[in-house]
Amino acid sequence: MDSNQEKVIIFEDVWKYYPLYHEITGGIKMFLINMPKAIKRMRGNKFWAVNGVSFEIYKGESFGIMGPNGSGKSTIMSMIAGVIKPSRGKVSVFGRVAPLLELGAGFHPELTGRENAMLNGILLGLTKKEITSKIDEILEFAGLGEFIDQPIRTYSSGMMARLGFSVAIHIDPDILLVDEILAVGDESFRKKCFAKMEDFKRQGVTIVLISHDRVTMESFCDRIIEIKEGKEVDTIVPNKNPQ
Ligand SMILES: Nc1ncnc2c1ncn2[C@@H]1O[C@H](COP(=O)(O)OP(=O)(O)OP(=O)(O)O)[C@@H](O)[C@H]1O
Ligand SMILES: [Mg+2]
Repeated sequence: MDSNQEKVIIFEDVWKYYPLYHEITGGIKMFLINMPKAIKRMRGNKFWAVNGVSFEIYKGESFGIMGPNGSGKSTIMSMIAGVIKPSRGKVSVFGRVAPLLELGAGFHPELTGRENAMLNGILLGLTKKEITSKIDEILEFAGLGEFIDQPIRTYSSGMMARLGFSVAIHIDPDILLVDEILAVGDESFRKKCFAKMEDFKRQGVTIVLISHDRVTMESFCDRIIEIKEGKEVDTIVPNKNPQ
């Protein structure tokens, strides 16, 4: 990548820990009596999920993150989305971010698909007027038929992914974050999503993708980092010579 290009995501020596909770020892009664101290003891240990990661992502780049379960990929993605903050180091992100994190994140189970789509659009920065004018297009892309007026709690994981992806691509993002979510979509929906992401690529949208599917990653991404135990262990630049 040309170093003169605009950087839109910058990680500078980023670390993130989660508190490690321990079992309540000595019984619940003792726990309640010694509450402040007991809570402190329970939270005393830290689990470092991300250990000093640095990278820069350029405008228009398709950037992949790979690695085993629990290696810290989603934690990194959540810091890009701004959902969680680093414990140490610095994360800078420039532009409107459309995050597709875990399944159902940001959805309210009792609201219908249509209501959730409206709410989600507003949470992602659209005005009421904008979301009203786009809602038909969003629902059409999601292709949920009459289920769109059923509560989200009745949805399958693939149906939730369809709705989430559909809202995200309609908010006109500068940066699209896709954490694994497409894995639960059926083949025709996955094809539709990748076609849309190729469109975004041509328009200069930056895409960060997490997947365990190496073939998909290597064909879609310009650059992939491999994470193990919260550290970057490798960078892969897929060889994409046109035939
Ligand atoms: N909210 C949390 N509280 C405590 N620990 C957490 C939390 N979220 C993640 N972790 C821990 O941090 C580590 C990294 O988790 P993360 O979800 O980032 O992994 P991942 O690479 O996305 O894994 P997967 O491929 O399974 O999605 C794991 O050991 C996990 O147990
Ligand atoms: Mg994950």
